[in-house]
Amino acid sequence: MKDVKETLLERTSVRRYEREAIPNEALEFIFRAIQNTPTSYNGQQFSVIDIDDQALKEELYAITGQKQLKTCNRLLIFCSDYNKICRLAEKKGIDMPDFTNTMDGVMIGVIDAALAMMSAVVAAQAAGLGSNCIGYLRTAAPAKIAEILKLPKGVFVVCGLALGVPREQPDLKPKQPLSLVFHRNEYRQDTDELVAEMERYDEVVSEYNRTRAGGTSTNDWVAHIIDYYKHAMGYEILAYLKDQGYEIRK
Ligand SMILES: Cc1cc2nc3c(=O)[nH]c(=O)nc-3n(C[C@H](O)[C@H](O)[C@H](O)COP(=O)(O)O)c2cc1C
Repeated sequence: MKDVKETLLERTSVRRYEREAIPNEALEFIFRAIQNTPTSYNGQQFSVIDIDDQALKEELYAITGQKQLKTCNRLLIFCSDYNKICRLAEKKGIDMPDFTNTMDGVMIGVIDAALAMMSAVVAAQAAGLGSNCIGYLRTAAPAKIAEILKLPKGVFVVCGLALGVPREQPDLKPKQPLSLVFHRNEYRQDTDELVAEMERYDEVVSEYNRTRAGGTSTNDWVAHIIDYYKHAMGYEILAYLKDQGYEIRK
């Protein structure tokens, strides 16, 4: 098992995997780490669809175009889930408020599922495995994926996580410097300096993208990210949530 410092500071996304299976002990560790995730109110408003069926992985690859889905050994799909708590409340005759129809209700499910995914990322890294978050499992064809996974009302996909024995060791990506990440006691007011630091970071990461091992790109970092945002303007997540039983009102 890697130590905490190496686990957290040397993690990268891994998109190529060996064919070999993940050892049971490592998988059990990842599952227990997910189970022990901190959650809002300890309500555990999340579930994980654990996929080891190769045909299903390939079907999800065909929908998303993400090759990692068919080559990974295990695919975990993290969902926001109010179905479990609602069913129990119903059984016990406890009135359920319209909580899933509030933005905070939605955010809580997303936060719980995202933290559970991060528990899995860290546990996998510590166990010497590679992982890659797959947001396309939420965005590519939400209704189709909900149907394939038989998601009941109150459950929607937040993100997938591909896991496997690593077949590559990608370079660490340069991240924003601590001065941009942390704002001491209040949000920084020196906007000109903040923008200047962002420009310097943009140069660093764009240079990294031009020269990194594996796939290089000539895109500017910020232009690249904003292209993703433009593409994401086409996603119909509100309609997806509505299909899954969420009528967001406040
Ligand atoms: C919520 C989320 C969704 C992501 N979706 C994808 C994805 O669909 N496909 C992919 O190849 N990488 C995906 N990633 C991985 C990011 O591209 C990656 O974390 C980022 O480029 C930073 O690289 P690093 O993880 O190596 O530090 C996703 C990451 C997060 C946190």
